[in-house]
Amino acid sequence: MKALVLSGGAGTRLRPITHTYAKQLVPVANKPVLFYGLEAIAEAGISEVGIVVGDTAPEIQRAVGDGSAFGLDITYIQQSAPLGLAHAVLIAREFLGDEDFVMYLGDNFIVGGIADLVDEFRGTRPDAQILLTKVADPSAFGVAELDISGKVVALEEKPAAPRSDLAVVGVFLFTPAVHDAVQGIEPSARGELEITDALQWLIDHGRDVRSTTISGYWKDTGNVIDMLEVNRAVLEGVEGRIEGSVDAASEIIGQVTIEAGAEIRGSRIVGPVVIGANTQIIGSYVGPSTSIAPDCRIESSEIEFSIVLAGATVQGVRRIESSLIGRDVEVTPATGVPAAHRLVLGDHSKVRISS
Ligand code: DAU
Repeated sequence: MKALVLSGGAGTRLRPITHTYAKQLVPVANKPVLFYGLEAIAEAGISEVGIVVGDTAPEIQRAVGDGSAFGLDITYIQQSAPLGLAHAVLIAREFLGDEDFVMYLGDNFIVGGIADLVDEFRGTRPDAQILLTKVADPSAFGVAELDISGKVVALEEKPAAPRSDLAVVGVFLFTPAVHDAVQGIEPSARGELEITDALQWLIDHGRDVRSTTISGYWKDTGNVIDMLEVNRAVLEGVEGRIEGSVDAASEIIGQVTIEAGAEIRGSRIVGPVVIGANTQIIGSYVGPSTSIAPDCRIESSEIEFSIVLAGATVQGVRRIESSLIGRDVEVTPATGVPAAHRLVLGDHSKVRISS
């Protein structure tokens, strides 16, 4: 069995963070979301992995390399444009050969991995097996309709009037039957070869499409609170580890990871928290459910339930909560008069000021 991981596409949803950044590399507990998928694939006993890449190919390749760090053998498959999930299957035909495969969307996060699911599929081998989950906003997803026995009878991509609240999760198991389906469908109104249409094609041709409903799922739908929540859930499972330096005037409480080269001075850190390599925390409070990436500086500030990306500086600010702070961002107090907020914000930024 092989795996096909989709890491192409243009990042537009988790704005503004993914304007300039591959959305599959957005970190959860300081680790790119894509890495959790690759680890889940390795854990399921699959080693041959094709990664579909687009415009952000260099970033993805830099982060993942040849896959040996994950115990995987990775082949990169270049997609000329994000022409759809089924298009990605189409262009991966040579890599996939006639083997069964799991297709994993690189921006999806599944709590608990996929090992059981892959085992079940290996045993039963329906033509396709999909995962579904109940969501509050089904029209942002592919939506499945089940009959009374739980069999998938219809699928629709981002319907305006969803017929259920069961969203299609970004992990699919296929036999080679899917290759006929992706060749048999036409692009949708948004110009993409939709995987939901390929699945519908299989159903319409009498093929066996099964589903499993799961909980513990996240995908980037532009909702920052969701991202903070998934970060919180993952941090809860991380055991603390201190490799950086902590001075005597600092207090570390609960599960806190401090990577090598990080420096904590005169600060109070209450876990679960992760602090990346070479980050400095000086005279500050870092509260639960916070991830601070490498090369940041948090000074004379308080921050909690937040994600700070690499290279950011937060200085003299009390207090930051429920925030996502991008790469190389600077948050500092305005000095002198007039006492005004001075903002240089990228497109689609959102700022809530408490005064
Ligand atoms: O995440 C689950 C949803 O994924 C499903 O509910 C939908 O049925 C399915 O169509 C898909 O919806 P999205 O439109 O949200 O997919 P998105 O464009 O975000 O792409 C998902 C991943 O696949 C992402 O990591 C980018 C990558 N991708 C996407 C396209 C369209 C590619 O590698 N190539 C592509 O052509």
